[in-house]
Amino acid sequence: MIHPEPPNRHTTPLLPQEELRAFVQHYLSNRQRYLEVLTAHPAPLYILESDVLTERAGQFQHAFRQHLPEVGFYYAMKSNNHPTVAATLLAAGFGLDVSSGLELEMALSLGAQDIVFSGPGKTRAELELACAHRQRVTVLMDSFGELERLAAIAARHDTQVRTGVRLTTNPNGLWRKFGIVPADLGRFLATAASHPGIVMHGLQFHTSWNLTPAAQIDFIRTLGVILASLPQAYREQLKFIDIGGGYWPPQGDWLQEAGTPAGMAQKAMGHALAPGQSHYRLPALPIANFASQLGEAIREHLLAVVPCRICFEPGRWLCNDAMHLLLSVVDKKQPDLVITDAGTNAVGWERFESDYFPVINLSRPALEERVCDILGALCTPHDVWGYNYWGQAIEPGDILLIPTQGAYTYSLRQQFIKPLPEVVVI
Ligand SMILES: Cc1ncc(COP(=O)(O)O)c(C=O)c1O
Repeated sequence: MIHPEPPNRHTTPLLPQEELRAFVQHYLSNRQRYLEVLTAHPAPLYILESDVLTERAGQFQHAFRQHLPEVGFYYAMKSNNHPTVAATLLAAGFGLDVSSGLELEMALSLGAQDIVFSGPGKTRAELELACAHRQRVTVLMDSFGELERLAAIAARHDTQVRTGVRLTTNPNGLWRKFGIVPADLGRFLATAASHPGIVMHGLQFHTSWNLTPAAQIDFIRTLGVILASLPQAYREQLKFIDIGGGYWPPQGDWLQEAGTPAGMAQKAMGHALAPGQSHYRLPALPIANFASQLGEAIREHLLAVVPCRICFEPGRWLCNDAMHLLLSVVDKKQPDLVITDAGTNAVGWERFESDYFPVINLSRPALEERVCDILGALCTPHDVWGYNYWGQAIEPGDILLIPTQGAYTYSLRQQFIKPLPEVVVI
């Protein structure tokens, strides 16, 4: 009998040491800037670097402007809902992408003049709010039912609302909850045209966690075929195609062994993993490559059929690198086990069991990583920051930095056992 090969534990590439060291070195070189914040605000803190946001905003816009004639940029507020993040991106020339009445209220209160409102299951109250601010809001409708509800609201107010419709990129599984199936687009546009209160201006789609533009390009091709089959009058109506967000930051997806497919399989089989020994990385393309590849596909498949504005809704790519966590060590219980003042309720999920981020000891800086369980103070063993730290040593009172926690952490924070850290904008 031939025995199958044992599974290769390292099919996920290792995170190159030199890149990791350069990343840590960058944050060590800003050490004084972060430590100074503590003179006025005690740890734990979220630190928001607004200049990083402004820089990312410029890089994103510049990349896509090189390849497309008419573009619009909207910051996806769900990725980090701190008002300063949205305000900074507004000042950098972005509009806002909101997904609830709460986010819409914040966007309006910040003075945003160009807002897209997307998401499934918008309530009547949310649609009423959008209708009341119709000069500033485009409603990206999610279903035939929502079209009827919005049309009824517009009719009651004897007014018109600017809209688009979201297309589902995957009709199977849980992603089918978003938008209408592309094959229904012609029927949707015909129904919209029968409602005088609905001004149909565009289309939207979104795919998440794009390490490369492959999924977006696939759908762009499909959409091109559908657009070509529409009556000319419907095509001429379309003023924008919004291709969503989902761009992964260029450093790639950094994983603990437990976050790799091989690690997950080991865990599922009940095998213990040796945490913290190795770090892995799924590489992501730089934004310039997304822009050139998407630009080419959009020009060929979309703009050739419907010359219009192309819109973008990035969240993670803009805010990921702009917010960090600053914690302090409260207790050292073993030479290789410390407890911090904050818990992972500050990020709202058990992120660091699967994702790797360096924990940098700003109090005893060194470009060396040592094994140590860095655990939070919550009453759950899943309260993990990491299994290593960068530094000479670690002791109670030390200040630890966990960089690049700007995306899907602050907006997922939970009130659970420990108070939430204060946000300091620098
Ligand atoms: C419709 C839509 N647009 C934009 C985004 C932002 O995605 P990301 O933060 O990955 O860029 C999301 C995220 O879920 C989304 O659902």
